[in-house]
Order: sequence, then structure tokens, then C-alpha cells
Amino acid sequence: MSEFRTIWTTADRNVEVIDQRKLPHEYTVVKLTTYKEAEMAIKAMIVRGAPLIGATAAYGIYLAVREMIEKQLDGTFLDQAFSDLRASRPTAVNLFWALDKMRAAIDNSDDFLETSWRMAGEIVEEDVETCRMIGVHGLPLIEEIAKRKAGETVNILTHCNAGMLGCVEWGTITAPVYQAMKKGIKVHVWVDETRPRNQGSNLTAYELTRHNVPHTLIVDNAGGHLMQHGMVDLVIVGTDRTTRQGDVANKIGTYLKALAAQDNKIPFYVALPSTTIDWTIRDGLKEIPIEERDQDEVRYMIGKNQESGKIESVLICPETTPASNYGFDVTPARFITKLITERGVCDASEAGLTTLFPEMKTE
Ligand code: MRU
Repeated sequence: MSEFRTIWTTADRNVEVIDQRKLPHEYTVVKLTTYKEAEMAIKAMIVRGAPLIGATAAYGIYLAVREMIEKQLDGTFLDQAFSDLRASRPTAVNLFWALDKMRAAIDNSDDFLETSWRMAGEIVEEDVETCRMIGVHGLPLIEEIAKRKAGETVNILTHCNAGMLGCVEWGTITAPVYQAMKKGIKVHVWVDETRPRNQGSNLTAYELTRHNVPHTLIVDNAGGHLMQHGMVDLVIVGTDRTTRQGDVANKIGTYLKALAAQDNKIPFYVALPSTTIDWTIRDGLKEIPIEERDQDEVRYMIGKNQESGKIESVLICPETTPASNYGFDVTPARFITKLITERGVCDASEAGLTTLFPEMKTE
């Protein structure tokens, strides 16, 4: 679909990713040659977004296997790589899904190197196809609104970045948007800036610009006002972890958008690859670990100095003011109109999810 991907391999079997910390001002590629570099890329948010974190961790394991063989280290090195990568970020479940898949593949193989290389590649390709299918199933929801509005522009609000930069290609929330545009439907996206890391202004706005999607950047608190004034037709967000009963953890602030959407009777959709479903838990509020990040992400803002052209970090509060920095919040299933998955659209409930994924029924 796209002219670029977020993760790819090189002829010498290393891995390259885009340094997302530098977007939209600089497009820089980072080479990952060891699992420690992959771990750092996840921790420092060079890569981020649930599916891309999983894909990077998978290649991290391939790099660990290679180092283990080259340096003739024993299996404890690989065990350490698994546990370091597992600890790199706590909320997005794709990380654990990808690592479990890598472990199972390696444990069932005599050729660790080829198996881990192949499995990481499969995880990446699976994400591309999954997101494409989310687009196929999400498109009718946009089409229906366009029909109701007699061809007028459909206004979509999104939070954080759940586009291709959070995945490998297509993205989850952007896949239906790109498909709608391809069909000639007029769309416009309200982009929440998404403090404190500004994934909306830095990343979503960047990729919508690259794909010529009409969009407008808004401050995080504007969504409710826009909804009250009929300026939003639907909300679509991504997710880092979805429970069996359809509760969704996503970037902090998502819950407030869901509340405002419900008050204004605006459909609130969550687009997700099934790899973000944690089938082992039900109650998102009690069971999803919420990442707490460095307070300086809140106290400082990073941007481009218009005069010098340099990227700078500026303090936006008194030197001594402390900050709290919860990375995610949980939107309970009752606020979610539908989940959009690669297998179709369903209610945000155990019954809804297991209709699409009958193999996950418990009895
Ligand atoms: O902290 P981040 O940038 O990794 O958070 C990302 C999100 O919250 C995304 O919405 C989510 O991972 C879905 S990406 C398709």
C-alpha cells in the first residue's frame, strides 16, 4: 500500500527502523545490530505503538540468537534477552505475544538462527495483512456515514498515533481512512496532539500529510467541544491491550474522548489487530498494568526552534514542580460502540469477541 514501512531488514541481516523521536522534523534511520539496541529502541520510544513494539522485539530475539551463536554463549544469554525485552514496556500486549511466539518457534527448532529470522519476518508480514483487513472491515462504517451525509465530508477524531508508524504498514485506525479515500469518500481527521509525547502532532499529522489526508491538529481538550457542535462524525482509536470483555487500554486521554463521544451519541470505535487482545484477563481497570514514564516528558516540550531550525527541549513549568506521567488509561467496554478487527466488526464484549474468535471460547 505504502511507499514506506517502519521496520525492515538489510542485506547483511540487520534491522532498521525510523527514529520516531525525531519526526516530523527529521527522517532518520537507526540500525539495530544487537538485542540490547532493540531493547533500547523500545524503551526510548525510537519505535512505539503496540504492533511495532512486538515486531521490534521479535527481531530483537533474532539478533540475540545471532550474538549467542557468534560469541559461543550459552542459553542463559538468550533467556536474558527474552527477559530484558519483556521488561522494555509494560502495557502493550503485542510485546509479550511476539516474544511468546519467538520462544515457541525456537524451542521447537534445531536451527535457532533461521527459525528466529523466519518467525520475526512472519510477525511483520502478519501485521501488514492484519491492518489491511482492518481497513476492509472498517471501511463500511465510514461509507455508511458518508451516505447519510449525502457525500459531505466525514469528520473523524483520533487520539495518539495508531497509524502505520505504530505498526508496520497501513496502521490500524488509518487503514479504513486510506481505504475510504481510495473510494473517493471525503474525509477529514481531527488529530489530538496527545501530550506529553505528542504522537498526534508529531506522528499522526506527519503520516496523514504524507498520504494527503485532510486533517487538523487540535489540543487534547478540544474534542468534547467539537463533538458538542456536530463537528465529529466518529471517533477511531487504537489499543495497546484489549481484554476478553472488551475493555481497552490506549494512550492516556482516550477514556475522556469515549465519555464525550457517549454524551454526544457519536460512535466510538477501536481498531485492533487480534494480537492486542489479552485473552487471559477480563477487567481492564484492575488487570492491565499502566506504564508510568519519566516526569520530564511532562515538564519539558520538544520542538523545532523556528529561528535556528534546531530541535530543542524547553521547560514549561517552574523548575521544582513535579509531574505525574501515566502513559495509558482504560476505556471500559460499555463506552465502545464496536471493535474493528482483522476478522470483522464486533461488540466490545466477550460474546462479541468470541463470535469472531471462536477458538478462544473457554467452554
Ligand atoms: O506510548 P505509545 O506511543 O507506544 O502508545 C501508542 C498507542 O497508544 C497506540 O494508540 C496503540 O499502541 C495502537 S498502535 C496501532
